[in-house]
Amino acid sequence: MSYPELRHDVFLRALLRQPVEYTPLWLMRQAGRYLPEYKATRARAGSFMGLATNPDLATEVTLQPLERFAFDAAILFSDILTVPDAMGLGLSFAEGEGPRFAHPVRDEAAVARLAVPDLAKLEYVFEAVRRIRSALDGRVPLIGFSGSPFTLACYMVEGAGSTDYRTIKTMLYQRPDLLHRILQINADAVAEYLNAQIDAGAQAVMIFDSWGGVLADGDFQEFSLAYSRQVLSRITREAEGRQVPAVLFTKGGGHWLEAIAAAGSDAVGLDWTVNLGEARRRVQDRVALQGNLDPMVLFANPEQVAARARRVIEDFGPVTPGAGHVFNLGHGISQFTPPESVSALVETVHQHSRRFHTPA
Ligand code: CP3
Repeated sequence: MSYPELRHDVFLRALLRQPVEYTPLWLMRQAGRYLPEYKATRARAGSFMGLATNPDLATEVTLQPLERFAFDAAILFSDILTVPDAMGLGLSFAEGEGPRFAHPVRDEAAVARLAVPDLAKLEYVFEAVRRIRSALDGRVPLIGFSGSPFTLACYMVEGAGSTDYRTIKTMLYQRPDLLHRILQINADAVAEYLNAQIDAGAQAVMIFDSWGGVLADGDFQEFSLAYSRQVLSRITREAEGRQVPAVLFTKGGGHWLEAIAAAGSDAVGLDWTVNLGEARRRVQDRVALQGNLDPMVLFANPEQVAARARRVIEDFGPVTPGAGHVFNLGHGISQFTPPESVSALVETVHQHSRRFHTPA
């Protein structure tokens, strides 16, 4: 497959800690319900899965935020839960509720039945990647993604989102062997899934370990990080004559930053509980950092949004040779966010960050 040449690679260069003139940015969940045009396309699709499984509509919503805002990257419109859905767990998104699985994996028999899915079941994702790459026409790079093996297991075992993770933690403490088997299957599936996205045209990949931060110290390393590390060691790191950078994001992972930074990614995503300057000193610029504005800052007025965005850039400090920062939120953007706040944010990051970069 050959695509139009990439004309704007500041995001990829920042992830690889190469010189750039300003700090690039994109936002987790940048395509979503805070945009009226997303809601209109979603209504046409009838359901979230109707939208995600239709490559033309997935392309349309991936590009929508780029029409409004000067983001430096696009992210594939899909969901982390497509992988367990392809394993036969029966994913649905009820109106106004989170995701739900009809067949959660809770006992020995269900764990024994679990297997790496036939990637043909996820062909709609790879087709969306191909169409998005063509539609992007080299404007910005496309990010592919997956959930981490542990974060996927949370939904697979709980059967839905959770506040206390009681079901998966019961399995972890009572039958760690069962959880390890699930995690190994997930790691195999995620590695294959990300490689297929890269083959289809994803130019960077991100692993979302959204719930690794709920684990106890020791358990995080054993049940989450070890499997993300496995995935990172198995994914393709070059395609179309370019490096394909990988980002590992762990919400609530600040205490384990050194270990996370040593797991094999090019960049580490951080939530807002961590100071970027301190994080940078702890990892000694061995990886780029991505983050980390509190998404709720976007509910303040535009001047306050700008001031808080400047603070994140200043916390990171001068982007000296060998350092890399990609601006992002510390977690997904809220569906209630006023789009004007996003405009103020993009403008501030692009302008204010210039003085922190040394010209090549
Ligand atoms: O960032 C993007 O714009 C790309 C698309 C994307 C979605 N989900 C679309 C989506 C990405 C990268 C995800 C990842 C995802 N999905 C994660 C990891 C990131 C994170 O937020 O921690 C997780 C944990 C999920 C699981 C998931 N999907 C949940 C918990 C929900 C419901 C919560 C909600 O926001 O309603 C979803 C549904 C979902 N995935 C929506 C979108 C735009 C909203 C559903 C809708 O439109 O009805």
